[in-house]
Amino acid sequence: MAETILTGLRSNANLTLGNYLGAIKPMLDRQEKLSEEDKFFLFAPDLHSFITPIDHNKLYEQTLENAKIYLASGIDPNRKNVFLFRQSHVPAHSELTWILSCHSYFGEISKMTQFKDKASVKGQNVNVGLFTYPILMAADILLYNAEYVPLGDDQKQHLELARDLAIRFNHKFDQEIFVVPKPWKEQLEFTSRDQGIRIRSLQNPESKMSKSVDDPKGTILLIDEPKAAAKKIMGAVTDDLGVINWDWEKQPGITNLLQIFALFTDTSFTETANLWNGKTSYGELKKTVAELIENFLTDFQTKIATITNEQAEKVLQDGEREANMIAGETLLRAQIAVGVRR
Ligand code: TRP
Repeated sequence: MAETILTGLRSNANLTLGNYLGAIKPMLDRQEKLSEEDKFFLFAPDLHSFITPIDHNKLYEQTLENAKIYLASGIDPNRKNVFLFRQSHVPAHSELTWILSCHSYFGEISKMTQFKDKASVKGQNVNVGLFTYPILMAADILLYNAEYVPLGDDQKQHLELARDLAIRFNHKFDQEIFVVPKPWKEQLEFTSRDQGIRIRSLQNPESKMSKSVDDPKGTILLIDEPKAAAKKIMGAVTDDLGVINWDWEKQPGITNLLQIFALFTDTSFTETANLWNGKTSYGELKKTVAELIENFLTDFQTKIATITNEQAEKVLQDGEREANMIAGETLLRAQIAVGVRR
């Protein structure tokens, strides 16, 4: 059966190792398994980037940079069924968001934990977009009839909202206007993982490795100097238990390193645990992971340096032509349903 897969990465700051391992890498693995009828959408949600303050002068360039990151990772837009595009260049996203907003309840949007977390940051102005962004995200997903949306586990609630909105809309208008994305459990099975991927901060392994939090020692950026990145791994916060165990509760720092090891070496989480559990040298684990990262970044950065802005721009424009057609069809179905078109 044909499958449609979609994912997006915010482009407001440099992408991290967490973005690579949690989102880009699973997409690459999936690209290898695509059949001809499958469709694969990868986009830069640039309209999402100003839900928190950013430097607008840099946004355009950063979005191009993100496209280059995909290309350097091995995403191949020459395949007929792989589409790379910018959200802002497909106006249907904004239009569908409005229609969906009027079918979302204030109460359900207020429950989003990511909003509560981000809005509670002291001294920050909370804009309405931060509140309603899960609705834009639902539009992102529904416009392309995506069934599979590989996501970090902090995005689980947003996926659920997209499902709820699709079901509600289809029910209200009594036709299949939107494809309902698969539930979370099936999303995990799809990426052949028994748990979501969540790369944690190296300094504060209780929290996600995040480009939007100021945590330079805990965050590895894809543009970090490879040796400096290796140093961050060597300095990662662990614990004083002295025995390695895959255990997010008791040993989040160690488990974070194990997870990075697993993803870089294409070893399952269970196998990785079998391989390392019971060993006592944290230094050996750190050294192994540091080397993996240093080699990866060296290779990756060499590749990225060969891609020009013009090349990236061309790939995006090609993708956007296709994206506009596909998204336009879905939008039209929704517009007809709500009565603004025939
Ligand atoms: N919210 C996602 C994140 O912060 C990015 C995103 C926006 C996205 N729209 C999407 C991901 C649609 C998948 C599908 O990482």
